[in-house]
Amino acid sequence: MSDDKERTVELHYEGGVLKLPVFTGTEGENTVELKTLLGSTGMTTLDPGFGNTASCSSKITYIDGAAGILRYRGYPIEDLAVHSTFLETAYLVIYGELPEPGQLKEFSDKLRDNADIPAEMGAFIDAMPRNGHPMALMASAVNTLAAYYADSADPGDEEQVELATIRLMAKLPTIASRIYRNSIGETPIDPDDSLDYVDNFIRMTFGDNAPTGELGDLFNKAVGMLLVLHADHELNCSTATVRVVGSSQADIFASVASGINALSGPSHGGANQAVLEMLEEIRDSGISIEDFLEKVKSREVRLMGFGHRVYKNFDPRSKEIKVLASQILDRDENPDELFALALKLEAAALEDSYFTERKLYPNVDFYTGVIYRTMGFPTNMFTVLFAIGRLPGWVAHYREQLHDPAFRIARPRQHYIGSAERRHPSQG
Ligand code: SDX
Repeated sequence: MSDDKERTVELHYEGGVLKLPVFTGTEGENTVELKTLLGSTGMTTLDPGFGNTASCSSKITYIDGAAGILRYRGYPIEDLAVHSTFLETAYLVIYGELPEPGQLKEFSDKLRDNADIPAEMGAFIDAMPRNGHPMALMASAVNTLAAYYADSADPGDEEQVELATIRLMAKLPTIASRIYRNSIGETPIDPDDSLDYVDNFIRMTFGDNAPTGELGDLFNKAVGMLLVLHADHELNCSTATVRVVGSSQADIFASVASGINALSGPSHGGANQAVLEMLEEIRDSGISIEDFLEKVKSREVRLMGFGHRVYKNFDPRSKEIKVLASQILDRDENPDELFALALKLEAAALEDSYFTERKLYPNVDFYTGVIYRTMGFPTNMFTVLFAIGRLPGWVAHYREQLHDPAFRIARPRQHYIGSAERRHPSQG
């Protein structure tokens, strides 16, 4: 908790008045600490989806949903997206400060040196169902890292947690690209330690089909920026999952694998895939944008890529991604049809009071899919790319929790509305 002179709020209930301490965060936001509530009053709080609940104190990321602000360790996402690299941003998110040049080189070298996976792990990945969703396969593969690297699975050993951090960051792109190449019947490509992190991932994924020259540089910049934009987002569903699993002293591999599973849902990271499928459905069905939005407003479907639990303004990431999309998709004479459709859909929604009254704006997932598709990634790989970007955040939150003095196992309570006691018929 932040240092605070004792400020309190009073809860007046049948049994009396309970004073609860109030703490103020860096940006002046206040939180009421409830840890004495149940013991003092016998009452719990009911907050489905935890929309009103801060489950921890954290120094990693700050979001102001009303103002559309996102900062990693205090640095605005607009600065990092344009002026940083994914490895520099990952270092910042994980270790708390921007790296000195020597530190960044050491970090990059460690990732290069650990990018390979054991041959038997490669065989395990190759044996998984090739038509399986890559997120399911990747979560399974990441979980087994605890078996292949048992010497870095003890959360109580800082050196092991650091080694696991390097291994996860280094190997996730190798795992992801192998899963992808298996899915298209192509031979896996081993990491090439002469390439930087992003180029290596692109080459392991696309092999000789990877773009080169000016287009290759543009794609490297685009993938790097997209990974930066996804690096962390405070207590989103998947990061909260990593914290909950890690709170039981589960190893970092198990916790990250759980985060991958949480991210796969279409309400969360799976939305970038759902957006593209939505755009293709609109295109292929011939339905007008107006008629599609009527279906949304009648709640037949959701406008995927729109809305956010925290942002009630533009998601600052979607603004950066939209600019990037224009740079990539407008290169051709005729801009990508789905990008053009997405632009029209956004414009129509933002002119419609149904969306503006509910503060529904494009989120990080609205434009990423059209970019990934243009780069040649299949739709079911979009969320895998989200996971590679989010890995630094998951790792940072797992590590931060281990050192939190308030750290305890996550064990929420419930509001029971089931049957009162009743006996088995045999008990008469
Ligand atoms: C990510 O948390 C994070 O930080 C996540 C993320 C990250 O970086 O980790 O930012 C990444 O997950 C982005 C979100 C990706 N998901 C989608 O794009 C799926 C579509 N969006 C939603 O389903 C929805 O907006 C959520 C899940 C993102 C947020 O849901 P909430 O906060 O629970 O909002 P809600 O369901 O309470 O909606 C409030 C109102 C409701 O209408 P009313 O009942 O008040 O009339 O808005 C409506 C909802 O029906 N609404 C939508 C809508 N999202 C909300 N209506 C149509 N289309 C939508 N997309």
